[in-house]
Amino acid sequence: MTIDRVAVLGCGLMGSGIAEVCARAGLETTVREVDDDLLEAGLGRIRKSLGRAASKGKLDETQVDEILARITGTTRLADLADVDLVVEAIVENLEVKTETFAELDRVVQPQAIFASNTSSLTITELAAATGRTDRFIGLHFFNPVPVMKLVEIVRVLSTSDETVADAQEFVRAVGKDPVLARDNSGFIVNRLLVPYLLDAIRAVEEGVGSIEDIDKAMQLGCGHPMGPLTLLDFVGLDTTYFIANIMFEEYREKRFAPPPLLKRMVLAGHNGRKSGRGFYDYSDR
Ligand code: CAA
Ligand code: NAD
Repeated sequence: MTIDRVAVLGCGLMGSGIAEVCARAGLETTVREVDDDLLEAGLGRIRKSLGRAASKGKLDETQVDEILARITGTTRLADLADVDLVVEAIVENLEVKTETFAELDRVVQPQAIFASNTSSLTITELAAATGRTDRFIGLHFFNPVPVMKLVEIVRVLSTSDETVADAQEFVRAVGKDPVLARDNSGFIVNRLLVPYLLDAIRAVEEGVGSIEDIDKAMQLGCGHPMGPLTLLDFVGLDTTYFIANIMFEEYREKRFAPPPLLKRMVLAGHNGRKSGRGFYDYSDR
């Protein structure tokens, strides 16, 4: 099936990036948020990201306008009825995702493919909320979406070969490079990355080093582009907390358990860059 019209559910950190890369690839893109304020905030993220590319000479003003003209914002699921692909990037919560997919299944044209950008939920469980399990797949993008080349494609037992082929074609069309991952919690990257990030929080709890020195050590010692605590602030501490709880539920191993410090930071609303405060203070930015 040719994918020309895409809907992105959620216009947060990831949904805004996914919508941006779809529109930059020439696809008609509709983003859906839960209310007008969150929708406007999400569209603002897209404009800011395109402005960053323009300021570096990667795009000119006309191209930015053409890209933005391909993006439509809405709060109504009914506006997604005619799309060819839905990519869900809403809060990492099984109930919210399954309720939304079940409602979408009744609204969106039957041939459309449904995809989730979930970090840790099993795609099988999300697909089961719909009647289109042959056209359900995982498309796991990475943060920041305009920059990171990888997309993990996750087929489940019911996913058809045609859907996998359509998904691979879509991923390449938006300038990304796919890998195929099994439907285990965390797929490939997060199965390896999340224990590392949680251990960095445990290192802070144990006083292995200061927050700054732990980050500096991994950047200078291992060549990482950003240290683990900076990355946690970038990913979002709330999202990381949801992911850790889901992965611990599946694997029942301490290395996936959310450290007490992470829980307390999320309870305090210290969610990282997105809330202005995480391991670092962003209030002056
Ligand atoms: N959005 C869009 N573009 C961005 C950006 C953002 N938030 N941040 C940086 N960029 C762009 C810049 O415009 C610049 O573009 P050009 O190359 O065209 O000039 C490029 O990225 C490099 O940016 P900078 O030079 O400003 O800074 P940098 O060299 O430190 O790169 C970074 C920034 C790409 C984020 C880099 O620090 C990095 O790769 N960090 C690691 C990110 C990572 O590990 N992501 C995976 C998270 S885990 C995940 O996503 C899965 C999950 O389920 C949680
Ligand atoms: P976020 O909190 O930045 O954005 C989530 C957005 O979903 C919010 O704007 C919220 O208003 C919206 N939302 C909640 N319920 C909704 C609904 N019913 N309909 C429409 N929108 C709704 O979170 P995020 O970091 O963008 O993560 C979104 C998804 O992407 C999660 O499943 C997460 O696991 C996954 N993911 C996150 C990252 C990352 O680095 N943050 C990377 C890869 C995948």
